[in-house]
Amino acid sequence: MIPRIDLKRDFQKHKEEYMAAIQEVCENASYSGGPYADRFADEFRQYLGAGALTGVDNGTSALQLAMLALGIGAGDEVIVPANTYIATAWGVTYTGAVPVFCDCTADTWEIDPADAERKITGRTKAIIGVHLYGQPFEYNELRKVADRHGLYLVEDCAQSAGCSL
Ligand SMILES: Cc1ncc(COP(=O)(O)O)c(C=O)c1O
Repeated sequence: MIPRIDLKRDFQKHKEEYMAAIQEVCENASYSGGPYADRFADEFRQYLGAGALTGVDNGTSALQLAMLALGIGAGDEVIVPANTYIATAWGVTYTGAVPVFCDCTADTWEIDPADAERKITGRTKAIIGVHLYGQPFEYNELRKVADRHGLYLVEDCAQSAGCSL
């Protein structure tokens, strides 16, 4: 059998570096926030070339916070692709808003901008596009849909950190 993903290979390659880093964090009991989290956030910001970055505990929280930052909550709808990890929808439901699922394209399995547009109602506040499998969705097309209807466009990059159009 050929394994689809061999996670052991990466660990073996970087084992000493990983173990030294884990040991240092444990010895300093710096598990939540603190200098290591700050350093990671800053190095990740530089890697992305982003102007600002705030680290959070996981991708689900990041999506929920993005919704809250945009003032999204009960009574609002947010369009999300039907094919994604469930946390994309959780980021919406945790605010009290309703996720509205739209279809994906047959060739990329990523959000279909045309179907996203068909799902817009008077309650829609945002669309979440998900860059799946390390490949970007049709950003320019979805951006046009969002702009045409005055909606926020949020990108879920949990599976695609650092990918570019
Ligand atoms: C597309 C997508 N969005 C959001 C998440 C949620 O991330 P987390 O598991 O860190 O909460 C994941 C996790 O796999 C994901 O694949």
